[in-house]
Amino acid sequence: MEETHELARRLGRMLAPGDFLALIGPLGAGKTALVQGLAEVLGVEGAVTSPTFVLMRLHRGEPALCHVDAYRLASAAEILDLGIEDWAEESIVALEWADTVPDALPEQRLEIRLEYTDDGRRIHFRGMGPRYAAIVEQMRKQ
Ligand SMILES: Nc1ncnc2c1ncn2[C@@H]1O[C@H](COP(=O)(O)OP(=O)(O)OP(=O)(O)O)[C@@H](O)[C@H]1O
Ligand SMILES: [Mg+2]
Repeated sequence: MEETHELARRLGRMLAPGDFLALIGPLGAGKTALVQGLAEVLGVEGAVTSPTFVLMRLHRGEPALCHVDAYRLASAAEILDLGIEDWAEESIVALEWADTVPDALPEQRLEIRLEYTDDGRRIHFRGMGPRYAAIVEQMRKQ
């Protein structure tokens, strides 16, 4: 858990308003744990929990963190109805279960795949678009 939070804190320091994180991985893979690490470096106060039932939570931070969970949503349209786009420019958007709503994802995004195996946990980053490719490159160097 500490490693996941540390990785998330490192990532969080490189993010800026307008960034979009697509979190992908099975139940319990650690998607929310990663967002908690991000929230810490963004100065979010209060607990960050899975927005599985509320679907979206906007946390005040520097910048704000828009935490969304697509688990209970059937379509990309429902995700867009939440109004993510209204917040996307001024906050960092972190969407759990992003693979279930491919049509709701911006072309340029950071995909974060989380795996949970007998050997432990793995987190894969894939930068889609030059900005995110640069972030992934930077993460590798650190
Ligand atoms: N890197 C980690 N090391 C150890 N435990 C972890 C790690 N990441 C998450 N966990 C634990 O696994 C459980 C599930 O984690 P988390 O809620 O982050 O998963 P999730 O992918 O968001 O699941 P969901 O699909 O239900 O939203 C939690 O109890 C959490 O404490
Ligand atoms: Mg979760």
